[in-house]
Amino acid sequence: MSNPYIECLSLSKQYSRNNQRFSAIDDISLKINRNEAFLIKGRSGAGKSTLLNLMCGLVRPTGGKVFINGICITDLPNDSLSNVLLNDIGIIFQSFNLLPTYNIYENIEIALVPKKLNREMVQGIIISYLEQFDLKDKAHLLPSELSVGQQQKVAIIRTLVKEPSVIFADEPTGSVDEISASEILEHLINLKMHKQVTLVMASHGNIPDKIADRIIEIENGRIKK
Ligand SMILES: Nc1ncnc2c1ncn2[C@@H]1O[C@H](COP(=O)(O)OP(=O)(O)OP(=O)(O)O)[C@@H](O)[C@H]1O
Ligand SMILES: [Mg+2]
Repeated sequence: MSNPYIECLSLSKQYSRNNQRFSAIDDISLKINRNEAFLIKGRSGAGKSTLLNLMCGLVRPTGGKVFINGICITDLPNDSLSNVLLNDIGIIFQSFNLLPTYNIYENIEIALVPKKLNREMVQGIIISYLEQFDLKDKAHLLPSELSVGQQQKVAIIRTLVKEPSVIFADEPTGSVDEISASEILEHLINLKMHKQVTLVMASHGNIPDKIADRIIEIENGRIKK
């Protein structure tokens, strides 16, 4: 593989706890190749979500840099970073982040706005995904009217419709049953196999090692192995 697609250089993130600084991420350097399925493992509180959020630009590091496709996203001003996030990067949040006052259809529709498609195309895409994930009859319900697992599937659809070149997936199967979990993982792996998507996933055990090309384990904000 040529240049790494994602590169973290001496990345660190400190927070305050009881008036003391502590490192949620401590001096992590790593490279992820284009089209790789990269899995970050570690126990609860190890720093997996923080690392993912740093890598995709949602959280600014205390130290170090992140490059995506050669662009140093750490140095980008907020408005340019928002453009990158809107267009090229898909994020599946551990806590879903669905908009509570928008129905399921609208929650997904928002992700398609930057694509500037006509209404029929948008409708076709959304309905097809809702069918695939067994949610077609939920389109007009609010997130709070769905089960937690169904909400997680909506959060995943919202990311998939954008067809991003890299997907950061934080515990993407954490709230669904086993069958739905394998369907979700199969979907993500299909994108990697057939659409050259780069996958960066975090999990404390719900994602089988065999689907990853490379695995790191983190503990107390540092790479253990
Ligand atoms: N915004 C924040 N402010 C203060 N501390 C934070 C913040 N976000 C995370 N932390 C702390 O950083 C550490 C790592 O948290 P993180 O959410 O990255 O863990 P995780 O590995 O994703 O855990 P889980 O498996 O439970 O999702 C934890 O000790 C957490 O309390
Ligand atoms: Mg987490």
